[in-house]
Amino acid sequence: MQNFVFHNPTKILFGKGTVASIGDETVLLGKKVLLVYGSGSIKNNGLYEQVIQSLHSAEATIIEYPGVQSNPVLSHVHTGIELAKENNCDVVCAVGGGSVIDEAKAICAGATVQHDVWKFFTGKKSVRNPLPLTTVLTLAASGSEMNSGMVITNTETSQKFGFANKHLYPKTSILDPTVTCSVPADYTAYGAVDAVAHVLEFYFTTVDPYTPVQDRLMEGLIINAMESCDRVLQNLNDYKARADLMWTATLALNGLTGAGLGKVGFPMHMIEHSLSAFYNVPHGAGLSAVIPGWMRYHANRQAPRFAQFAERVFDIREGSVEKKAEQGIEALSAWFTKVKSPTNITALNIPGKDISKIAENAMTLAKVWRMKDYNEKKIEEILQKCL
Ligand code: NZQ
Ligand code: ZN
Repeated sequence: MQNFVFHNPTKILFGKGTVASIGDETVLLGKKVLLVYGSGSIKNNGLYEQVIQSLHSAEATIIEYPGVQSNPVLSHVHTGIELAKENNCDVVCAVGGGSVIDEAKAICAGATVQHDVWKFFTGKKSVRNPLPLTTVLTLAASGSEMNSGMVITNTETSQKFGFANKHLYPKTSILDPTVTCSVPADYTAYGAVDAVAHVLEFYFTTVDPYTPVQDRLMEGLIINAMESCDRVLQNLNDYKARADLMWTATLALNGLTGAGLGKVGFPMHMIEHSLSAFYNVPHGAGLSAVIPGWMRYHANRQAPRFAQFAERVFDIREGSVEKKAEQGIEALSAWFTKVKSPTNITALNIPGKDISKIAENAMTLAKVWRMKDYNEKKIEEILQKCL
């Protein structure tokens, strides 16, 4: 067990009917609210009216800022920052999935500085006193509702970069599983893949050889993400399944799984971000296309770890350590196929000839994330296994 500090300041209101509290929770932080949301799903499922009603009854003044796109872009962040400054907003409320919450975090950070917000993403500036943020989560996936990270694409440089800062945790997040019932099957699956990936990243990059507490927590979250996703795909309105998936995805990236693991990496995401930057693929779909190849590249170097994963997550008991390691990867890949998430980049129509361009792009993020064990050649070799 490595030394660690675990401090997650986000207050979570979980369950049916919790959306009604967003107004009171938000005006505790400010009365001039920048309301950030996407391209319309909250209007189709009735959530928009509930949020407006709650903010109005809490006597908030609302400045609306719709139009966040999936895989949010820097240019839209810039406009949101200007709007927040012009209207002297003192709090931001995000209603959406990870893209909306991430963009809202970037607006919070940029609204209180004069320099380009992108300097936070390239490590040139550090966040000091951003605007406070409340959220209503509408898609179980990113964990952004209870973490300090965010990911934005700079379309001018084709870079999809992410960073975290302790001042950027949402103050309060409302998690009502009911509002995720309108998420279609494909994005439900991509969200579950993302949650599984968040756990795999730490599970396979920790260098601590003995982490029984974290291992069983992570293995349980992976099993829950897959099983609850399977139940949702049988009935998109299954509240219990939506609730299990929602809380699992939040726990998968709120700091708990990494506590005590010491140094960990995020290599599958480092590569996936380049796929989303270049081809605008859904984040979870990009991950399921990269994960099997990344695992095949590493399995022989960490066979016992991969064998433990196979045993504990898929109950694979027979055969050598190497055989179990290989079968665990096949079992995970088979689950991706079962939920209709691609298992290679060819299925995303990404040609093999693009591999060096992708590797070069991914390396720019690996440098910002100080991933010293990666170089372009290694990333190319991994991507060759993702074809
Ligand atoms: O535009 P809207 O209306 O929001 O529609 C969205 C979007 O089209 C739709 N949707 C969301 N909630 C819905 C709904 N449709 C019907 N009913 C609902 N209740 O689903 C589509 C995808 O939404 P999006 O927010 O893009 O998905 P997700 O939550 O998976 O977020 C993906 C973003 O999260 C970032 C990714 O990079 C990506 O940009 N991540 C953020 C992380 C973090 N902050 O820690 C970590 C993650 O690894 C991830 O990188
Ligand atoms: Zn992710």
